[in-house]
Amino acid sequence: MLNDFTGRVAIVTGGASGMGAATSGLLAERGATVIVVDQNRDLAAKVSESLQLLPPIVGDVSNSAFCDATVAEVTATHGRLDVLVNAAGIIVRSRAATTSDDEWRRVMGVNVDGTFFMCRAAVRAMAGTGGAIVNFGSIWGDLGAAGVAAYCASKGAVHNLTRALAIEHASGGIRVNAVCPGEVDTPMLRSERTGPVTDAMLADIAATVPMGRLARPAEVAEVVAFLASDRSSYMTGALVSVDAGYGAH
Ligand SMILES: NC(=O)c1ccc[n+]([C@@H]2O[C@H](COP(=O)([O-])OP(=O)(O)OC[C@H]3O[C@@H](n4cnc5c(N)ncnc54)[C@H](O)[C@@H]3O)[C@@H](O)[C@H]2O)c1
Repeated sequence: MLNDFTGRVAIVTGGASGMGAATSGLLAERGATVIVVDQNRDLAAKVSESLQLLPPIVGDVSNSAFCDATVAEVTATHGRLDVLVNAAGIIVRSRAATTSDDEWRRVMGVNVDGTFFMCRAAVRAMAGTGGAIVNFGSIWGDLGAAGVAAYCASKGAVHNLTRALAIEHASGGIRVNAVCPGEVDTPMLRSERTGPVTDAMLADIAATVPMGRLARPAEVAEVVAFLASDRSSYMTGALVSVDAGYGAH
């Protein structure tokens, strides 16, 4: 079977929504035991139930003790951790001059600290057995953009953290890659806008994309599943664009 995850145990942070939820569903469909980790208790429970997953682990990935406890709980319960997908993330749509200390720290706290804390806990757990980690970067991790300064900085950090971890663990059987999505139709894309999200606004965003449309979460989940599977066995430290040509400008 394509990307067979039978017998594999996977954690998906941010699994209650958007691309994390799509990834959770796809990995489970392909045989993985998937545990959603998300701070949104109600949504995490609803998504886990509808995808017929185990109960989620609820908490904040910007808290290192929570990340350590989550990985410890999963390995104690299932005896192993094979896959970590770090999809939890937030965005603040503000230019640098109007970004508050709190906004900066929140974005860095979830996107950078959260990714690091989960990766650190996972590589400790995967030591000796190996595994695959897939982080969520972004087109804004490589390109600059006005109005999302903290987010751009945070995703740039995720990109190079991915490379650094890949090199540290290349000989240890732990592969670390990132997907870098473009404009994907999820709750995040619609969040933090100054006015109501209209069809015209979404069409304007789509018009900035070379292929002329937004991505569906499933189109990114497919690439995450590939990177998490043995089919990408010779890939580590890669930043894989899933952006319909946006970064090719
Ligand atoms: N939507 C896009 O266009 C786009 C583009 C590029 C990259 N990304 C990245 O992809 C990833 C997934 O984004 P999405 O669009 O599916 O977002 P989303 O808002 O639909 O889902 C994000 C999930 O993360 C969870 N989360 C947020 N903060 C958390 C925390 N501190 N602890 C635990 N869970 C937390 C939320 O509850 C939510 O369920 C994010 O890292 C995002 O930055 C999104």
